[in-house]
Amino acid sequence: MKSILEFGKMKATGKKISVVTCYDFWSAKIIDDSNIDAVLVGDSGAMVMHGFETTINAEINMMCYHVAAVKRATKKFIIADLPFLEHKKGKENLFNSIDLLFKAGANAIKIEGADGNLEMINELTQSGIPVMGHLGLVPQSINQLGGYKKQGSNEKSFNKIFDDSLKLQDAGCFSIVLEMVPSDLSKKITNKLEIPTIGIGAGAETDGQVLVLTDLLGMDKDFHPKFVRKYLQGYNLILEALNTYNDDVKKKNFPSLRESN
Ligand code: KIV
Repeated sequence: MKSILEFGKMKATGKKISVVTCYDFWSAKIIDDSNIDAVLVGDSGAMVMHGFETTINAEINMMCYHVAAVKRATKKFIIADLPFLEHKKGKENLFNSIDLLFKAGANAIKIEGADGNLEMINELTQSGIPVMGHLGLVPQSINQLGGYKKQGSNEKSFNKIFDDSLKLQDAGCFSIVLEMVPSDLSKKITNKLEIPTIGIGAGAETDGQVLVLTDLLGMDKDFHPKFVRKYLQGYNLILEALNTYNDDVKKKNFPSLRESN
């Protein structure tokens, strides 16, 4: 398993870091056999695994359930998203929730945004909890942002995200996800910070990339954001397999004699 020290070394030596989201046992087993550097059990699981419209529906039990399933299949470094408002329900609740995520198998947590979080992140990182920051498009604030759109496009927001990245590093974050920001901003942040940046929809200049597993496998036939590269036409391949199985059953081609005994 790679550690946060190795991620830091990878940045220092110019080696890119690959991260992919994962929520379940069987895909974590495949990821475990891959060369991917780290796994993010993202709160995007609320959307892609449970069909909710936003990540706001992810809650701590759901996250722990997914982390535990992933952990049973992989020895990769696991980052778990802290669900919406979990850090706003009091310190005891926060520490209990993080305890649950770590007992389930997480090695680090990810927290969205900097405003109002810096003191808390500082305390967490001083308590032995590796924290990944997340700036730019922060999906838990979708109701405030008004849509899944690029952030940091005007000067004020560009400077704010840049300043926040420095503050998160100072608070002790070991890495920061930059989501949906212009590449000149992610380049400026990446060049300035000592900790690695991991981009999604943030161009090629970040120290690493993260993609949602179901996006890179092409599992949703209706979702084609510009920043996603589909490495598999998963939807079509699985549909074809299911229909072939169906045909075989109907035509009495399955099971064969060999498959029956
Ligand atoms: O939940 C998630 O999948 C994420 C990634 C998009 C970075 O936060």
